[in-house]
Amino acid sequence: MAVIQRILCGLAVWSLASEAKDAPASPPARALMDQMLADMKALQPLLVSDARFMATENRAEINRRVESLSKISDRVMAHKSLQSAGYQVSGQSLNRHIQQVSRALKSGNISYARWALASTPYACASCHSQGIINPKPLWTVDEGELAGTPMERADFLFSTQNYDVADQTYTQIVRGFTKADASDVPARSRLERALKQRLLIWVRVRRDLPAAVAALDQDLKNPHLPSKIRVTMKRWQKQIRQLIKHSAQDQALRGEKLLALARKKLPPSSADFKDGLDGNLVDHLWVSGLLYGQLRESSQGAATPEFLYWLAMVDLGLNHEVFFSLGNAYLRDCIEKYPRGAFSARCYAEYERQTELLYSGSRGTDFPLEVKEDLRELRLRAMSE
Ligand code: HEC
Repeated sequence: MAVIQRILCGLAVWSLASEAKDAPASPPARALMDQMLADMKALQPLLVSDARFMATENRAEINRRVESLSKISDRVMAHKSLQSAGYQVSGQSLNRHIQQVSRALKSGNISYARWALASTPYACASCHSQGIINPKPLWTVDEGELAGTPMERADFLFSTQNYDVADQTYTQIVRGFTKADASDVPARSRLERALKQRLLIWVRVRRDLPAAVAALDQDLKNPHLPSKIRVTMKRWQKQIRQLIKHSAQDQALRGEKLLALARKKLPPSSADFKDGLDGNLVDHLWVSGLLYGQLRESSQGAATPEFLYWLAMVDLGLNHEVFFSLGNAYLRDCIEKYPRGAFSARCYAEYERQTELLYSGSRGTDFPLEVKEDLRELRLRAMSE
């Protein structure tokens, strides 16, 4: 799955670098969002069941909803209220993602389409979780409205800022972890995912650090949690306590001073990632929340490429099985939109490294022709001055 996902993200990044078109006379962003939610809610019960998704009688509805999402995501990208650099990257990713689903459906690759469509809520979440301190749920859920496992329901709710309900469900997954689960690989990955999603809610979105420490204390009372995960949870607590000491100062940082914090806290390149970034997840979530907040608050002008670079670092480091990775998309934006900046060469170097990782196998690196060509063009842009 991880490999498919990496390929998906990689493909999404190089296949279609369409630029935002001029905004049509646009309805409020909310109207577009409400329609996307209606489409996603209609698709949700089909997505969580292979049999329902494959059934021919549902095909017309699936096609109709995907076409609707595709049209609306074009308008989301072009919408004037969604032009901050962070939103633009997410909006483009959503758009490319839906186009891929649409192509897969047309070419009859239905199981791939289902898998890709099921990860659409992560693209929604990549915008909605860009560090909003007091997020409101984006819609009111009725009991029993969503289908699927608790994890599938929680992930959907997470994507639309229904953080309270999602948080409760993730918490049940952590606290309900049993002795038998400890030797079950899927149960362990559900546990890790639940822990990380919740950490994102507390640290990046709500910035409620004491609540995070307290909840982890409660979790640790479950004696069945695997010892490796307990060690990680305790390390997170220690890091969060450190963070609490200067969280007020950090939140007041702007511009260059915030970038200085990012340079200090984040690995300078993906070559410096240690054990994924589990070791440093707290800092990554914290700093990325601050960076997103600033990009939304005001344009960062010449500093934007560096913001994008650090957001790429955070995203590349986040475990791809847990988070929808926009890392490569940030790097691409950094090169394409700011070709003459001091950072574009650095963004390119990292992008090339990621592409190599994607295509390297036991026989060395084997780039398809169009990828080679794409890299060549990007390199020219990045080095254009
Ligand atoms: C480009 C960024 C972006 C993407 C991608 C995105 N959203 Fe949104 N969404 C927003 C913003 C910004 C708001 C406004 C949030 C607020 O007002 O608090 C919003 C609000 C919403 C709302 C509330 C609308 C209302 O009536 O108040 C819903 C529902 C919603 N989004 C659903 C979705 C769904 C479903 C997806 C994915 C298919 C999605 N969004 C993808 C940025 C995005």
